[in-house]
Amino acid sequence: MSRKSKQPKKTGSGKGMDRRSFMGTLATAAGTGAVLGASSFAPSAHAETVHFPTASYLGGAGPFRSECDIQDCDVEGEIPASINGAFYRVGPDWQYPPMTGNIPFDGEGHVSMFRIANGHVDFKSRYARTQRFKAQAAARKRLFGMYRNHFTDDPSVAQVSRGTANTHVVFHHGHLFALKEDSPPVAMNPLTLETVDDYYTYHGELKSLTHTAHPKFDYTTGEMISFGYEAKGFATDDVCVFSADAKGHITWQAWIKAPYVGMVHDFAVSQKYVAFLVIPMATNVERMKQGQVHYAWDSTLPTWFGVMERGGDGKDVRWFKGPERCATHVMGAFSDGNKMYVDMDMALKNQFPFFPNLHGEPFDPKSAVGYVTRLSVDLSKKDISEYSMERLYPQAGVLPRQDDRYQTLPYRIGFMPTTDPTKPLNPKLGNLAFRPTNSYTRFDHATRATSEFFIGDDSSLQECCFIPRSKNAPEGDGYLVGVANRLLEGGRSDLVIVDALHMEDGPVATVRLPYRIYSQVHGWWVPGDALPKA
Ligand SMILES: [Fe+2]
Repeated sequence: MSRKSKQPKKTGSGKGMDRRSFMGTLATAAGTGAVLGASSFAPSAHAETVHFPTASYLGGAGPFRSECDIQDCDVEGEIPASINGAFYRVGPDWQYPPMTGNIPFDGEGHVSMFRIANGHVDFKSRYARTQRFKAQAAARKRLFGMYRNHFTDDPSVAQVSRGTANTHVVFHHGHLFALKEDSPPVAMNPLTLETVDDYYTYHGELKSLTHTAHPKFDYTTGEMISFGYEAKGFATDDVCVFSADAKGHITWQAWIKAPYVGMVHDFAVSQKYVAFLVIPMATNVERMKQGQVHYAWDSTLPTWFGVMERGGDGKDVRWFKGPERCATHVMGAFSDGNKMYVDMDMALKNQFPFFPNLHGEPFDPKSAVGYVTRLSVDLSKKDISEYSMERLYPQAGVLPRQDDRYQTLPYRIGFMPTTDPTKPLNPKLGNLAFRPTNSYTRFDHATRATSEFFIGDDSSLQECCFIPRSKNAPEGDGYLVGVANRLLEGGRSDLVIVDALHMEDGPVATVRLPYRIYSQVHGWWVPGDALPKA
């Protein structure tokens, strides 16, 4: 997380430069067009060759590092005429070679956009010009050390936000926000992907020093509900939850304390409640001082499911205990009277092989498999101390999604990239350590029926995102969109568009890119009528 202890100062003058002015100067020095910034090269006395010594990052693929524009991508099939909007995605993409031992999640946020309209698709990608991106571009080298570990940074960046903006990208009050949970949003122009604010604070109203990558949207009110953890600074147990109105003003804010300082990657919002799951991915200061990453998995810790009233002061929060579990993403959530339900992709143990197990247990791939699991509590019961869990489906996967129009509301349909072990695997791929994510599965919670789109025996799927067939189409009536990697073509990327009512039929259209693009963490769909005019 950023170690800044206060909000950026407003534009200043005189002796000191405030952070925005400082970084603005760096941006000017670094230029804005080329990947690494400067349009003219001026060798410095300490010039160092840039060399990526290994291609082991990102599951064997090297960094992408190229900002791209393709007008009229190659389309196989037919883009449905009703699809008009932009599919945004973001993922980490190394700007400079990382510190030895660092993890893939610490690359710089690279945002891409598939703009789809009238059967045409234009592709654009730009790095988010975060404060750290600009500082490193100006220095022409890596200045930040290990994942969320400021102890490993170059002293010159002590006042620079560590946020990479590499996790999620969402749209609200006219801004595209590139998000990383250790820092405030980075605001980008949704049409040009130009960074317009590297430290966005909601008109100066944001009190939290951090901001989740997974805000929720209440389309009945136009609100974006969000939170930050470690919200008062490094390793603090403070959680700040807040809501921004349709113009980006913060209209509600509450502070609560977490049971321990651990990862709170996602959260859940219903019409009545807000819920958090604290998992044993604990912040470990001692290990950080030894040069390790921010987290270590402490299997002796329980999970805690916290529920509070939405719109309240947070004093009503109740924490319900559960066993060791790993769950990072919410498919959907809703309340029914005093009951709160949250559906997550839950595994028995640590799902991240690059976050070490604190007590020396080897990483266990079987215990890391996620299943759609419903967490629930009945708030009317004053004597309960634990939350309930129910595994809903046998399909294994991660990164669940829903028809996002139903966020905060009772919902029926969910989607998730899954790995179907019964499907063929191309023998030319040899022995793989993990089966590729080969399917998107649609889940109907009303009937518990599922249907599946299988990408083929030689490809792997990234997260999917739902596009409604029309503005008022019924829930789940529309398309899934997501990027596939063609594993026998060096991982070359395609965007696949699948009819969500006819999953088994295969893609209605495939947008063929000429190269492998960096891996996505999360993506977001913005309908065309919500985008600003060019
Ligand atoms: Fe996430």
